Amino acid sequence: MNPPPKDWNEALDGLLVDREDWLSAARAALEHAHSPYSDIRVGAALVDRSGQIFSGCNVENASYGLTICAERNAIGRAVMEGARDLVAIAIISSLEAPLLPCGACRQVLMEFAPDLIVLCEGADGSTLVHSLRDLLPQAFEPGDLGG
Ligand code: THU
Repeated sequence: MNPPPKDWNEALDGLLVDREDWLSAARAALEHAHSPYSDIRVGAALVDRSGQIFSGCNVENASYGLTICAERNAIGRAVMEGARDLVAIAIISSLEAPLLPCGACRQVLMEFAPDLIVLCEGADGSTLVHSLRDLLPQAFEPGDLGG
């Protein structure tokens, strides 16, 4: 087994999508955010092994707890379109610093893409790149259901 790259940015070089197209899809999704309560807009764009992009935005609700994050809307869209081989996600928010995915989204992403690479970009242009496994160590996964 190859050792994981020290810098996950390197792993993004092999994506079959133009990096700017990918980030633009996340930015375009952010523009659709429905976030009158937090005023934080988030856009997420998943990319699969063939270079297809699936985006989503956060959708808040007057019953606050029913809010759905951008990442979970993106994964719902990918699954609905039949995409399973997801390799990376870009998450862009209106906050200055990069927004890392919440715990619930980490778990939902883990179900479909345990080896996902996660790129987060803040409004200040700074980026963080992690692997999902680093963000959710010792995750509960489908195989842990036993049987
Ligand atoms: N949010 C996301 O869309 N993704 C995350 O991973 C964290 C938080 C949204 C939910 C809510 O609309 C707003 O950011 C503030 O929590």
